Amino acid sequence: MAELIKGSLVASHLRHQVRKDVAALRAGGVEPCLAVCLVGDDPASQIYVQRKQQACAVVGIKSVRVDLPAGVAQAELDQLICRWNANPAIHGILVQLPLPAQIDRFAVLDGIDPGKDVDGTGSVNMGGLIHGSARFWPCTPAAIIELFKYHGVATCGKHVVIVNRSIVVGLPLAALLVQDHEFGNATVTLCHEHTREIERICRGSDIVVVAVGKPEQFTLRGSMVKRGAVVVDVGITRNGRRLTGDVAFDEVAAKASLITPVPGGVGPCTIAMLLKNTVQAARPVGPHPLLSPSPNPGGRRRSGVVRSVAGPVNPAAASP
Ligand code: GUN
Repeated sequence: MAELIKGSLVASHLRHQVRKDVAALRAGGVEPCLAVCLVGDDPASQIYVQRKQQACAVVGIKSVRVDLPAGVAQAELDQLICRWNANPAIHGILVQLPLPAQIDRFAVLDGIDPGKDVDGTGSVNMGGLIHGSARFWPCTPAAIIELFKYHGVATCGKHVVIVNRSIVVGLPLAALLVQDHEFGNATVTLCHEHTREIERICRGSDIVVVAVGKPEQFTLRGSMVKRGAVVVDVGITRNGRRLTGDVAFDEVAAKASLITPVPGGVGPCTIAMLLKNTVQAARPVGPHPLLSPSPNPGGRRRSGVVRSVAGPVNPAAASP
């Protein structure tokens, strides 16, 4: 029977550190603040945004939120982002995805000042992730790597399959896992709805990450994993009052060596990473907090590439 990956515990360790960092920032006159925009009334997005704001409140991070109607024009969203970029009392900006079809989401994400892009989804941070110079990594990949570190999951030389190709999960996670880091050097296969023989690919993998969130389309069954695999379930589906993931838990846990529960796995850690990124945004520029000093001093550049630095003192109360 698989050991459970301790997402809630790792998240509470991360929050503990964030609380201390927030106290230090406040003592220096900086009140860390996250601005969140929700467009439309998708129930899942509403819950995610609410959880993110509650988590901010618990650690002493201020949050402001603007809800816009599903039919909002691109220009209105762009103007909101511009106002937040220009407001020195706002350190982090998050636009909840997905966005309605009339909105060019890449234009919106690229409108966020890279120094405030705590979701790491703008092209400066996303490109920086490939170069090894990003100030912010997207929160879910960062959370998964943190969980691997905590549980000593070695990725070097392992086959990893990721069933997701989004900009918040699959693409950045694949890019991180193949790089030459202590938590990288894996061989990664990215799967999506057009992938053939997904069962065979999953069965041949040492680490399986699934983030589909549509149980009628995809569920990871016990027959699809090899004995001893590490299984990470990012999917969340509401089933009446219960939350379930993308994994047939009992069947898969009988074969895996390590598995994330849902709830209490990746989710809490992802939110903790958002808090960590927000604190990082409120600090002067520095390297990504997960990047340890280079083991190869003559090697690749590690420091942050950003266009803005958070203000040293809290000039004004943040207001949307
Ligand atoms: N929707 C689902 N996951 C995410 C995420 O990590 N960030 C944003 N902005 N939206 C999401």
